[in-house]
Amino acid sequence: MENSEQIEITSLLGDIRNYFSWHKDLYGDSVYLDYDLAALTTTSQERKQYLVRKLAHSIKNCQRCNLAKQRTQVVLGDGNPNSNILIIGEAPGFNEDREGKAFVGQAGQLLDKILTAIQLSRANLYITNVVKCRPPENRNPLPDECDACFPILQQQVKIIEPRYILILGRVAASVLLKTEDSIANLRGKVYDIFNAKAIVTYHPAALLRDPGLKRSTWEDVQQFQKLYQ
Ligand code: URA
Ligand code: URA
Repeated sequence: MENSEQIEITSLLGDIRNYFSWHKDLYGDSVYLDYDLAALTTTSQERKQYLVRKLAHSIKNCQRCNLAKQRTQVVLGDGNPNSNILIIGEAPGFNEDREGKAFVGQAGQLLDKILTAIQLSRANLYITNVVKCRPPENRNPLPDECDACFPILQQQVKIIEPRYILILGRVAASVLLKTEDSIANLRGKVYDIFNAKAIVTYHPAALLRDPGLKRSTWEDVQQFQKLYQ
């Protein structure tokens, strides 16, 4: 074989490999030859999975705000997009940024324990954050970062169509309820956002700092359980 032919074949194989890696990100292990048809003919459950993957793919290189500079990867969320329960936190931390999944660090583990107590797990909820990239040193996301990321949350909500939303912490509450009020004042009430019923509780990271907040959080998640049952 001529050297130039070898180079051409090598480059073609590279293209094919890239194509299938892109395809896998977008569609998982199913191979679709006609994408639009695939979106139309899948069941509603498959469609939501597909649309979430497609959204993840479309924001992989997002540059809407400065957080793009220092993140390892965009963290879209975790869990089951077919659930009618959506949990919304603040922003990825160190572990989330590294693993690409929401709430996998210490706060996430505490949250999982709390949710287990009300019969919820990642298989029957979807979890995300108001900001999808880790702020440096885990500082709070800035208002312009929250604004830049909001359309992504809106797209997630449009796909998932949640009926019940649990808002974790003050940053998420300020973005979603447009108030600077404290969690102490916001908790215990039901809000209407995104056509869903929402309640507010403390962020699990706050519980790690102040275990005295656990009792109120327990009351809040029980209220949430009554709401979705
Ligand atoms: N804290 C958050 O608000 N979100 C995460 O994903 C992890 C920690
Ligand atoms: N950093 C993490 O890795 N996880 C958290 O829950 C909070 C900060």
